Amino acid sequence: MTKQILSVMALSFILSSCGGTEPKATEETTQEEVVVEEVATEVNEPLTVVIEANDQMKYNIARIDASAGQEITLTLKNVGEMPKASMGHNFILFQKGVDVQAFAMEAMNAKETDYLPASLMSDIVAHTSLLGPGEEETILFNAPDEAGPYKFICSFPGHFASMQGILFVQ
Ligand code: CU
Repeated sequence: MTKQILSVMALSFILSSCGGTEPKATEETTQEEVVVEEVATEVNEPLTVVIEANDQMKYNIARIDASAGQEITLTLKNVGEMPKASMGHNFILFQKGVDVQAFAMEAMNAKETDYLPASLMSDIVAHTSLLGPGEEETILFNAPDEAGPYKFICSFPGHFASMQGILFVQ
């Protein structure tokens, strides 16, 4: 990609340095180059994140860094051995400014929906389902476009205090 841009620029330099009789054409070419360059710098490599959750009610990472709008492939692995009913784990990423503690309280009453309260789904950017021992799930989503910290938690009852972290979007 970079080589192509450079060769286009080199070509337009040659054209303009020849002192051609059609300056308008040269100007148009220059405008096209600028557009191509902007597109090239906006493209980010997709981010791959693997998070492990264990029987000690811990994630193995507490921080994720991404750029605005970046494509994220996130895998949550429950590496524990305790039954799902007593030690299930999920990953829930929230919109900016959500009261995560209030969400966790409401989630405790949402056992039928794996601790995802239907009334608060608009608070969520992305989430996995509730995983039992040895299970894993991969979700695909885009980092929010607005910079800032975005909290994530496990909403299984009692886990939120020790299972939380932040996605930093730049
Ligand atoms: Cu958990």
